[in-house]
Amino acid sequence: MRTYIVGNWKMNFTVGEASLFLHRLMQKIHPSRDVQVVVAPSTLALQPLSLQVDRRRVKLAAQNVCPFDYGAYTGETSVAQLRSIVSFAIIGHSERRTLFSETDKDIRAKVSACIRSGITPIVCIGETFRERRDGETADVIRDQLLSALHDVSVEDLSKVIIAYEPVWAISSTKNSRLAPLDKIEEVVSLIRRTLTHTYGEKFSAEVPVLYGGSVNSHNSSAYLSIPGVNGLLVGSASLISSEFIAIIDSIKNIREA
Ligand code: PGA
Repeated sequence: MRTYIVGNWKMNFTVGEASLFLHRLMQKIHPSRDVQVVVAPSTLALQPLSLQVDRRRVKLAAQNVCPFDYGAYTGETSVAQLRSIVSFAIIGHSERRTLFSETDKDIRAKVSACIRSGITPIVCIGETFRERRDGETADVIRDQLLSALHDVSVEDLSKVIIAYEPVWAISSTKNSRLAPLDKIEEVVSLIRRTLTHTYGEKFSAEVPVLYGGSVNSHNSSAYLSIPGVNGLLVGSASLISSEFIAIIDSIKNIREA
């Protein structure tokens, strides 16, 4: 399976800054069948960057989508409008769940809309600190996963990526802390078992599972070495080009090990 390195730029960079970053990134990255580099700029930058990007090197992701194609949805951007611009979309990020009150039902609709439009959803799931402390991690993960994929058929499962992001490990979370490797491995294995139980081994084996939460160039090799982890979703470290490139380069360490 390919290794995915996804940079979530959140609400950072002007269009000019995003364009310059992409330019630098493309100079450093060689087309590869084993590695997929993805960046998720703000919606405003997506269209100009889509004209600039060399899709053999880097692909673009939206940070959010509206599940409806057209209509009276002020301030939203639809999958129909994004279809020719992005290859991926981050869906159900914890910031969208908590700051913008996105529900499991919204996330399910967005996942389906992406698949319908040929956009690969990167579905984020993860427990909060309180949920982990109260022993609810497994239930939360299973519920979020099965709810998001509720309308995804077995044939479409290969068009989905899952990102496990414990909310308490995301750098912008108050008092965030690094997730221990064994805790990540436990949850990633639970995700795979849940997919296998629902869709069967053959189909679930095709779903990439990424890890995200305070990933940087010092810990990326360790996170990439966790059994079952197929890539990384990177937030703050993806805003520094040397850091992001070092994270991409750390894949080589794993392959050579
Ligand atoms: P972080 O963000 O790498 O800054 O922790 C990850 C994310 O929010 O996707």
